[in-house]
Amino acid sequence: MERILIPGTNGVSKEIADSISRELLLKVCKPIYKVFPDGESYIRIPCDVKNKEAIVVQSFIQPQDKSFFEAILIGDALREGGASNSILIVPYMAYARQDKVFLEGEPISIRVIMETLRMLYKRLFVVEIHKEESLKYFGEGAVNISPYTYMARQLGLESSNVAVLSPDIGALNRAKTLSQFLKCSYDYLVKRRDKITGGITMEPKELDVNNKDIVIVDDIISTGGTIASASSILKKYGARHIHVLVAHAIMLGEAIDKLRKSGIDEIYAANTLPKKDGIKYVDIGPLIADYLSSYS
Ligand code: R5P
Repeated sequence: MERILIPGTNGVSKEIADSISRELLLKVCKPIYKVFPDGESYIRIPCDVKNKEAIVVQSFIQPQDKSFFEAILIGDALREGGASNSILIVPYMAYARQDKVFLEGEPISIRVIMETLRMLYKRLFVVEIHKEESLKYFGEGAVNISPYTYMARQLGLESSNVAVLSPDIGALNRAKTLSQFLKCSYDYLVKRRDKITGGITMEPKELDVNNKDIVIVDDIISTGGTIASASSILKKYGARHIHVLVAHAIMLGEAIDKLRKSGIDEIYAANTLPKKDGIKYVDIGPLIADYLSSYS
């Protein structure tokens, strides 16, 4: 079946679609987009998709609601155009952290996102969703792409005296996977987040990091508070160099300064979000292309 790649209209999605197209030699069809005077979005797919497998790449960057809605409109245009199969690739899945009711009266945002996407797409590939269990709301055909081993290989992250650290128990599996690749030990810190203010505290813990190079691994840097707190603790216990490996670098406000002040040497992220100064990016396109090849 012929395949065609359709990026969303933001720069991140275009860059990743171009990268996938170079790997798999696929044609890219860019949608036509405009905003009506009243603020509504218009989108058109100016290519023949009939009986083709359409692969849409849409990262849910800010404004997240617009990015999400664009994926919905593209999905419906493909349905109208007679595409025989529609696949959605989401390099950054927004709303994934609202995966349960924390305070009475809240929605489970990721559930309604997944249930909506499932009406329009047969398969879904997400780069490192906050919790893999959330894919169950899409049902069969949803795949999480874990990027850490690939990124570490691309970056040549190796050291004889290295340890991996997860800033909270939620990222422990991420740390375990990376430590297996780096053939080193891993540990975690205990983080508590205030449900109202969002402020975090880290519990003190014995850590064997003296004179070691540490790789902190997490899915997201948002305000930088989590990683900065982890880094300060590691420095106190004598860590030598601290590198951070994350899938998604949102980097709000003063995040980069906060991280530098906490003693971090280098921050590596996948290119799933708009680029910010002070971060080294790894192109995730070739890894997504591998997943697409093994699925076909
Ligand atoms: C939370 O569970 C996530 O895995 C990240 O640790 C969190 O979103 C990071 O947020 P911030 O950078 O604002 O501390």
